[in-house]
Amino acid sequence: MPGPSPAPGSGSPGSRRTPFLWGVATSAFQLEGSPHADWTSWDEILSAKPTVTNHYELYREDLALLRNLGVNAYRFSLEWSRIQPREGVWDEGAVAHYQEIIDILRRDNIEPMVTLHHFTHPLWFIKKYPWHEDASVEHFFRYVEKILPALRGVRYWITFNEPYVLVLAGYFEGCTPPALKNVPLGVRALKNILTAHAAAYDIIHAGCPDAQVSVAHNMAALAPWKRWNPLDKLLARVAKYFYNHSLLDAFLAGSLRIKFPFKEELVIPVPIKGKLDFFGVNYYTRIHMRFNPFKKMGVEMRHLDIDGRGLTDMGWEIHPRGLEKVLRYASALDVPLIITENGIATRDSQKKIAFMKEHLDAVERCRERGMDIRGYFYWSLIDNYEWLQGLDARFGLYRVDFDTLRRIPTNAAAYYSYLIKNRKF
Ligand code: FCB
Repeated sequence: MPGPSPAPGSGSPGSRRTPFLWGVATSAFQLEGSPHADWTSWDEILSAKPTVTNHYELYREDLALLRNLGVNAYRFSLEWSRIQPREGVWDEGAVAHYQEIIDILRRDNIEPMVTLHHFTHPLWFIKKYPWHEDASVEHFFRYVEKILPALRGVRYWITFNEPYVLVLAGYFEGCTPPALKNVPLGVRALKNILTAHAAAYDIIHAGCPDAQVSVAHNMAALAPWKRWNPLDKLLARVAKYFYNHSLLDAFLAGSLRIKFPFKEELVIPVPIKGKLDFFGVNYYTRIHMRFNPFKKMGVEMRHLDIDGRGLTDMGWEIHPRGLEKVLRYASALDVPLIITENGIATRDSQKKIAFMKEHLDAVERCRERGMDIRGYFYWSLIDNYEWLQGLDARFGLYRVDFDTLRRIPTNAAAYYSYLIKNRKF
């Protein structure tokens, strides 16, 4: 079973239990871009050109928004490509910048949760040591080794945001760097990323024994398109195992089992058994799986508006019950759970409010059933660059006017503040 390490909030023996973490989440590249990141230089595959909110310059104003909201936690990421713009070259100014953010959060009694890797890479890294090369692990390791002693005041760490999404987009769809459509290389990449998680876990704990470390795993409710169709059912079962459960099993057993329909399963040892102190769940939607021989590997994915809540501006189904399901799956790990992302792209504040309310109701039901859920982070603080959709996907509690860069509170921001004050978790 994972970790003898202390649960988040339990701290050293006898310390007071940390209150429920009410937070918002962001990622560095989506807010601040980077001239050295792979996404900046991969025009040929990117559907939406990276445009940013100038957060790298406006961070003080944006951190003040956290105070206005009344959150007690903030999840954000470090942009590796700013910290290490070239191989062997470290930008101390970038490290100091992130330290200043941590200091401001600490001053304001806001718990920082730092993501080391949120989808983007330094360009030199992805060109020379893409994740399917074993050398990638060592380069990630050096970055973490550099960062750890340099940053003070962080207890919660996410090593990788959504390792499966990273690999599926980069190696299956080929729509993000390194833009390969090669499943065997993707499997190698996943193995290396999980190995890099294990290395990062060890470095973090060596420097900070009471650190709380996890990945943020994107989980989805997965269902067959037609319940009576055995092929849709088979596909949904295989997808559900791979997407939601195989990582959980790898943390429990130290090996990754990859099952393909009508093929022998692959069992790959990965050194992550027990290497997490809590588990970060990113949840957004339900996906219906349809077997379609004309699609790659026979897989077609659809969003249906079954419950009549309407789809989001991402075209995603709004399905709060799915959050209960995935939290139940994640409970198998027997570590505390934190919802590290949950949010909706819409310009309609009422829809955003209803989304938050219904998903937090789901969290409450899970807690009533005894699940150990320690936090909720709404995605996102402000509108930002959404990877494949650009600026059209408005996830922010604060709307950004991209002409003036002004941040404008939506009614959902006030609603979230109200929830934080009044929901007794
Ligand atoms: C998640 C990503 C995050 C953001 C949201 C909408 O999968 O982690 O960066 O794009 O989706």
